[in-house]
Amino acid sequence: MGQQNFEKQIDSLLNLMTLEEKVGQMNLYSGFYDATGPAPKGGNAVEKYEHLKKGWVGAMLNVRGAEQTKKLQEIVVNETRLGIPLLFGLDVVHGQKTLAPIPLAEAASWDLQAIENSAKIAADEAAAEGVHWTFAPMVDISRDARWGRVMEGAGEDTYLGSKIAIARVKGFQGEDLSAPNTIAACAKHFAAYGFAEAGRDYNTVDVGTYTLYNMVLPPFKAATGAGVKTFMNAFNILNGVPATGDAMLQREILKGKWNFDGFVVSDWGSVAEMIAHGHAKDSTHAAELAANAGSDMDMASGSYLKNLTGLVKEGKVDESKIDDAVRRILRVKFELGLFEDPYRYSDIDREKERIYHPDHQAGVLEMAKKSIVLLKNDGNVLPLDKDQKGIVVIGDLADDKNSPLGSWRLASDDDSAVSFLEGMDAYTKEYTFVQGPTAFYSASFLQHVKVNETDTSGIQEAVEAAKSAEVVIMVLGEHGFMSGESRSRTTIDIPVVQKKLLKAVYEVNKNIVLVLMNGRPLTITWEAENIPAILETWQLGSQTGNAIAQVLFGDYNPSGKLPMTFPRSVGQVPIYYNHYSTGRPVNKEGNVFWSHYADEENSPLYPFGHGLSYTSFQYSDLQVDATDPKNVKVSVSVTNTGNRAGEEVVQLYLQDPYASIVRPVKELKGFEKIMLEAGTSKTVSFNLTDKELGFYNQQYEWVVEPGSFNVMVGTNSQEGLSGSFVVDQ
Ligand code: BGC
Repeated sequence: MGQQNFEKQIDSLLNLMTLEEKVGQMNLYSGFYDATGPAPKGGNAVEKYEHLKKGWVGAMLNVRGAEQTKKLQEIVVNETRLGIPLLFGLDVVHGQKTLAPIPLAEAASWDLQAIENSAKIAADEAAAEGVHWTFAPMVDISRDARWGRVMEGAGEDTYLGSKIAIARVKGFQGEDLSAPNTIAACAKHFAAYGFAEAGRDYNTVDVGTYTLYNMVLPPFKAATGAGVKTFMNAFNILNGVPATGDAMLQREILKGKWNFDGFVVSDWGSVAEMIAHGHAKDSTHAAELAANAGSDMDMASGSYLKNLTGLVKEGKVDESKIDDAVRRILRVKFELGLFEDPYRYSDIDREKERIYHPDHQAGVLEMAKKSIVLLKNDGNVLPLDKDQKGIVVIGDLADDKNSPLGSWRLASDDDSAVSFLEGMDAYTKEYTFVQGPTAFYSASFLQHVKVNETDTSGIQEAVEAAKSAEVVIMVLGEHGFMSGESRSRTTIDIPVVQKKLLKAVYEVNKNIVLVLMNGRPLTITWEAENIPAILETWQLGSQTGNAIAQVLFGDYNPSGKLPMTFPRSVGQVPIYYNHYSTGRPVNKEGNVFWSHYADEENSPLYPFGHGLSYTSFQYSDLQVDATDPKNVKVSVSVTNTGNRAGEEVVQLYLQDPYASIVRPVKELKGFEKIMLEAGTSKTVSFNLTDKELGFYNQQYEWVVEPGSFNVMVGTNSQEGLSGSFVVDQ
């Protein structure tokens, strides 16, 4: 059915709707009772239940399962005057039950096809559980590893982040939104939420238009280009206005310049939070500001339901704005096929068939292997021989089936990951496991993780076991719930007792493979200096143990590259590769007055784009042809100089060395992931057009300024072959 048809049907529906019913469509409630049980008997659930029956609820979140969603849908379809179906939303961030790696880990794969497939798996299972709409992808750029939500995004880079935004939207939504295995996606949090000051969640954001246009907005724009159906606004302020009440963002840019025809949902309670921000005087005022600014649906605050009808009657919100919001919401419902069959997604048989489907397990295993980053491998400690003897595995996380699932997994089953040890078991039983001290006492999505900060008992036993080991594998890091929403940290080290354990073991045996599990970049400066092999495994989801074991024993050659810079010290944060130069970038005469720290280098520990392989790659023969300034051709030859096949992410960085507005020292503008057999070479080519050469000026116009450009193609953001060219226009 074409879009035109829907518009006519929406027109007729809008004509039938009362103002209250329209406002009802703009109201999103969280699940408030067990729909398979009796109707609620007490508390404010009773009131919400009545709202449901009156048609005052357009959508619900956090309702899980085909049975629950079906029951609620029946109430609305059968008991409300117009029977407009509900839209069920959920944070399906990296899977429903079968979990893929956390999004930051997936970003480390730089493999867009794999990422799209991972979102497709998530959509398939979520849709089978009655979910129509995921609050993902989070496309916030962030440069601050203290911010716990970096685990949810694609890292620090706008170019990579935009490509991944497109892949995720395509994966969730597929070709046909009305198919029973696709769901509507939601680009969030619009905008600049990832720039929360000091990495503290929900904190003030203060970014200039230059950063907003060039760094923050592009992944959102890319998501609209990929046809994303919904947007979520954000908790933060921008230029003094809470994003939820920001008409410049939502009306001028999103619905104006970008022609977005889906709807904008507020973040949880963010309409009412404009009061605490000091922007709205009360709930009525908040509703007025948000609705006028283009926030179409109110998540959980109830402010729209309570106030919008009155505000329209008083003339403070024009009814045409309400109609526009409802039209957008209904459009998505039509596109999902809900008017054709409101129960299409709530199919108990399909739910049983799709959940934990073996194909999904295979898909997330592939994704998990691709997400692992080999940070260091001195003396080729890795891979281990398959008949390696004398392995001692140390660390609580090795035996953990819950933490590796990562944060943001609202519908998953606890303890459902293949643990590190279970993955090892598939290769060898010839190892000793010593847990060492307890790493965490308790962990859940709703509470802070209780980290062991004092009890060192268990270290001695680990040290004893390590003494005679041929190789020690230490599995250390953060608990999965130490990152995610509201999980900001001021220190981003390996937790203190685990670090003591590592140092104590190091005293007796230096042949250590450090397997890191974490949801953000960590300051592993001592580790990088002393430990010969370090494998970054993030939180890899359901297939964690299998993926890591395949890498450890060489059945998969690691190919991941960091999507976020690893700092040497938390004092360097925010640290990112595409920074500006400053007027004093280098120390020319041994002078103290240049841009630096007295106690630490400026450079990162591991730069953006870094990641090793079990083989080696050599770059040669950089060619730059700028004969056509509208299509500059850059090529490079890459040779696998090692003795096994491997994948390399060939990265192209560009610099506009002087411009009317200063440009970053370099910016990623192209990449290709290639597979090379040992001893073979491949030429990789890039085309640089206006899209890569330009930038947004202060008037939000895209401009290419003629002049010289520097280009670098290499294995990470710091190492590569350099060239330059001139663009005359
Ligand atoms: C988060 C959103 C999320 C929503 C619903 C909020 O607290 O910021 O990203 O989608 O909750 O769970």
